[in-house]
Parts: sequence; C-alpha cells; structure tokens
Amino acid sequence: MRCFICESTADERSLAASHGLKQAAPLLHMRCALPLATRHRVPDGFVTRAFRPGIDDAEWLAVNARAFAAHPEQGDWTHEVLSSRIAEPWFDAAGFLIYEVAGRIAGFCWTKVHESGHGHVHGESTIDASVPAGEIYVIGVDPAQHGTGLGRALTIAGFAHLAARGLHHGLLYVAGDNAAAIRLYESLGMTVAHHDDVFVGAVAAQ
Ligand SMILES: CC(C)(COP(=O)(O)OP(=O)(O)OC[C@H]1O[C@@H](n2cnc3c(N)ncnc32)[C@H](O)[C@@H]1OP(=O)(O)O)[C@@H](O)C(=O)NCCC(=O)NCCS
Repeated sequence: MRCFICESTADERSLAASHGLKQAAPLLHMRCALPLATRHRVPDGFVTRAFRPGIDDAEWLAVNARAFAAHPEQGDWTHEVLSSRIAEPWFDAAGFLIYEVAGRIAGFCWTKVHESGHGHVHGESTIDASVPAGEIYVIGVDPAQHGTGLGRALTIAGFAHLAARGLHHGLLYVAGDNAAAIRLYESLGMTVAHHDDVFVGAVAAQ
C-alpha cells in the first residue's frame, strides 16, 4: 500500500515506521500561473491530435507502460483503469493531447479541469486553492523519443489548452525523485506549493 501524509510530523513518521512502512520520495504538488510565458510550438515531424477512446487505448497503454516503467502505479494501468478514467464526468478527449510520429503515439499530455478548485495549500503560499485550475493529469514520452524536446512541447501544449479554456492556474503532481520532470517544470516557471510524504509497505488486515 501507499500512504500519503501532507507534510508529515515526526509522530506520523514514527507511527508509519512502527507499522513497517518505508518512506519513499515525496509527492510534489507544483503550481504555475496561466498562460505560461512560453509559447507552444510542435517539434518538426510530429502531428498533434486528440486521444480517440476505443481506438487508441491499446497503443496508449503500451506507451504509458514504457514511459512509466519505473513508476508501476502509473505504468501498470490496464484497459479497465483507462476505461474507468474515460468514463469520469471530467473526461474530455480534446484535452488529452497526443503527439504522433509516422502514425505512432510518441507522447501524450492528458489534462483535467477542476471547475471548483483543487488541492490544499500550506504555509506561506498565496495560492487560492478554491479557484478553478487546470491540471496536467498524466504526461509521458515514449523512451525512444526522450530528450528530443517532446516533453517540453507537450507540457506547454497542455497548459496552453487549459489557458484557452479560461483557466489562470495550472497544477500537477510529480514524484520528488523524478529529476527530469521537475527540472522541466521548474524551467517553465512552476513552483512547489506543498508536498505529501509517501510511505510504502504492506499492512496486515485487522
Ligand atoms: C519527463 C518527460 C515527459 C520529459 O520528456 P522529454 O521529451 O524527455 O524531455 P525534453 O527533451 O522535452 O526535455 C525538457 C527538459 O526536461 C529536463 N530533462 C529531460 N531529460 C532529463 C534528464 N535525463 N535529466 C535531467 N533533466 C532532464 C531538462 O530540463 C530538459 O530541458 P533542456 O533540454 O532544455 O535541458 C519524460 O522524461 C518522460 O516521459 N518521463 C517518464 C514519465 C514521467 O515521468 N512523466 C512525468 C510525470 S509528472
């Protein structure tokens, strides 16, 4: 199991340890103002389109599994999990951006609109968590295409899509040990609003 505790206290950490849970990398909640200062540009050779439910599912799951091979909670998604997300009331295929090359999915940026705000904010942050916000829900690039500028282009495209929907606040969640993604997001002006400490382990049923 995975247990998330927002900015855990020493007592909470020792309670988790007493149950045999190990602390993993924290989950960072990053925010930015929209629109981003950087404009969207599709890298040469790539075509953009919306995700096509029922047509792209198998290919998308395969790319997702390769991109998130090191993050099984995302990489292990099945048809059932994907179908359940597509069935959510917030799902909007137009906000699920696909970049393809030679007719194959090379990367994707799946966005999600929070009409009534999202998240909670701690400490000195000036973010109003009650206003509408646009999230980059899942973003990934096929490892064969890493380092070609696709992830940057997709992040900008996703936030441009959300800004075009009239949203002024962008957000996403990223594991604190995902150096490539964090560096990318920080280079686009995102900052960490808060973090959840993450504890992993097996807990016996009572
Ligand atoms: C994060 C990810 C989307 C970046 O995509 P990408 O196409 O490889 O990235 P880009 O080529 O556009 O590079 C953009 C920036 O990311 C950072 N970056 C990319 N690879 C990096 C690496 N190996 N180490 C450190 N920073 C890296 C750099 O800041 C880079 O900008 P620069 O080239 O100007 O230095 C991609 O690595 C990925 O799909 N990872 C697995 C899935 C994932 O972690 N998704 C994010 C979950 S929140």
